[in-house]
Amino acid sequence: MNVLVIGSGAREHALCRSLSLDPTVTALHCAPGNAGIGEVAELHPVDALDGKAVSALATELGAQLVIVGPEAPLVAGVADAVREAGIPVFGPSKEAAQLEGSKAFAKDVMAAAGVPTARSYVCTTPAEAATALDAFGPPYVVKDDGLAAGKGVVVTDDLEAAKAHAAGCERVVIEEFLDGPEVSLFAVTDGETVVPLRPAQDFKRALDGDEGPNTGGMGAYSPLPWADPKLVDEVMETVLQPTVDELRRRGTPFSGLLYAGLAITGRGVRVIEFNARFGDPETQVVLARLRTPLAGLLMAAATGNLADLPPLRWSDEAAVTVVVASHNYPGTPRTGDPISGLDEVAAEDAPHAYVLHAGTRRDGDAVVSAGGRVLSVTATGEDLAQARERAYRAVARIGLDGSQHRTDIAAKAAAEA
Ligand code: AMP
Ligand code: GLY
Repeated sequence: MNVLVIGSGAREHALCRSLSLDPTVTALHCAPGNAGIGEVAELHPVDALDGKAVSALATELGAQLVIVGPEAPLVAGVADAVREAGIPVFGPSKEAAQLEGSKAFAKDVMAAAGVPTARSYVCTTPAEAATALDAFGPPYVVKDDGLAAGKGVVVTDDLEAAKAHAAGCERVVIEEFLDGPEVSLFAVTDGETVVPLRPAQDFKRALDGDEGPNTGGMGAYSPLPWADPKLVDEVMETVLQPTVDELRRRGTPFSGLLYAGLAITGRGVRVIEFNARFGDPETQVVLARLRTPLAGLLMAAATGNLADLPPLRWSDEAAVTVVVASHNYPGTPRTGDPISGLDEVAAEDAPHAYVLHAGTRRDGDAVVSAGGRVLSVTATGEDLAQARERAYRAVARIGLDGSQHRTDIAAKAAAEA
């Protein structure tokens, strides 16, 4: 199979890594990619938001499957353009991707499908926002309606900060605070059949101890030893299948990756958000554990054949990933700094630990930083403690001036397991 992956993050590197290990994949392309992806796939420059350019590239390469990684191209209709060119694509249509593109749309779908989520108001004026904030009380949860790369959400006890965030957005969703641990559960779907993957936990805050601002995600681990073994079945029944059924009923079936961000509250599971694509960095740990070859799974979703797929196979190992971010992330990151230690990780830590690149690019012989989240080090082990130890041993070899990473990824779960 000839496969083209669209995107340039660590998620796309994880996808390409798995695809490169899949014996059915005979040619692997990525556009635009990054320095690390270039080691496993052939890179092509493309504007990932331009559907015409992406479908022209896919046609030219003879791609038999196109996988659209990030949300922005999906919301821009890139999957539709590729589908119109007659090429199977893993990723939802522009309309179905509104599940991530608009938090208000997602709330409407959940209400129609009876999916449990936080009570909320959609507000377009400061007066409406003030009334909604008052109705819920602190902690305040204020979400920009549109796409914001994980940074559009403010959770705060400070009423003035909550109002200020609301005032900076055209349309906001203000909602009830959900207390309890968060879980990310991904499902592969063809619009009808839903195949859940294994749950993971992300660390959204920038600093240790869940302090600091929200980010796109600073690390992740899987499995979740503390979670109820029935969690996946419950989420399938109350969240994933009803949401997929509702979108099909509306005439806008969702095919691709449905990502449920969940809070496990004292009153049960609640949806915090939906995403219309693989999560980053959770994908790094989920794919590290998946034994079923990836291309066939994603192709089955793209062509409506998931019902015929045998059950997925999983490794019993645990996986941990730690994100190394640039100086000043999640603010405007500093870029262009040389990254050292990549060869040492490859020589000393593989195959149990490896680097997945995000914001990196080649500069002559050097690899330099080119974004906020620069790379993520992923490791597997017999249990979370071993995976964690291997991941941090490799992180310690990476040199990047001014970089930051959390030191407590999976620490609590590993200690309790
Ligand atoms: P989102 O972009 O919707 O995933 O929100 C980013 C992060 O903000 C989530 O991962 C949570 O940590 C936090 N958050 C969002 N909504 C809520 C809520 N209703 N209650 C508590 N925390 C929330
Ligand atoms: N890890 C959070 C996200 O992918 O949105």
